[in-house]
Amino acid sequence: MISDFYDAAGEELAAHLDAGRDVAVICEGDPFFYGSYMYLHDRLAERYEAEVVPGVCSMLGGASVLGAPLVYRNQSLSVLSGVLPQEDLKRRLADADAAVIMKLGRNFPKVRQVLEELGLAGRALYVERATMANQKIVPLDQVEPMSSPYFSLIIVPGERWQG
Ligand SMILES: C[S@@+](CC[C@H](N)C(=O)[O-])C[C@H]1O[C@@H](n2cnc3c(N)ncnc32)[C@H](O)[C@@H]1O
Repeated sequence: MISDFYDAAGEELAAHLDAGRDVAVICEGDPFFYGSYMYLHDRLAERYEAEVVPGVCSMLGGASVLGAPLVYRNQSLSVLSGVLPQEDLKRRLADADAAVIMKLGRNFPKVRQVLEELGLAGRALYVERATMANQKIVPLDQVEPMSSPYFSLIIVPGERWQG
C-alpha cells in the first residue's frame, strides 16, 4: 500500500534527522499542492522542525504559458483531479466558474468527454509539461488520448470580465 511506502520513507528520513543531519526534500511545483512531500510532512513535522519553501504550482505555470487569466472578480476556481469518477467530475465542472483538471494521463479521454458533454471543450486549454524544456500546448481536440503524459493539465478559464 502507498501509505506503507510513506511510512517507510518517513522513518528513513527520521533516522537521518535523529542523527543530527538536515534533510532536503525536492519537489516539483509547490510542495503543498498535491505534492508527495505532504505525506512526509504529515508524518514528521510535529516531531522535527520543518521549513517549507513555496513554489509556483503547475496550474499557475500552466495558466502563464497558456496566456489564460484564471479567475475574474468574484468567480470561484475549482481544482479537480482527473481521477474522479465521470459523474463526479461532471457535477463539479457543471458548477464551476473556472476549473483546473490535474492528473490526466490515462484519465484524459474521460475528462475530454465530460468537457464535450458540458459544452466546455471549446473553452478548455491543454498543456503538457508546462514551463519545462519539452513543454507542448495542443488544442484539446487534437490531443492523442493515449499519449497524454502524467505531467499535463487542462484549464477552463473563467469567462472574461467585460468591465
Ligand atoms: C502529484 S501532482 C504534483 C503537483 C505539483 N506539486 C504542483 O505544484 O503543481 C502531479 C500533477 O500535477 C500536474 N503537473 C505537474 N507539473 C506539471 C507541468 N509541468 N505541466 C503540466 N501539469 C503538471 C499534472 O496534472 C500532474 O498529474
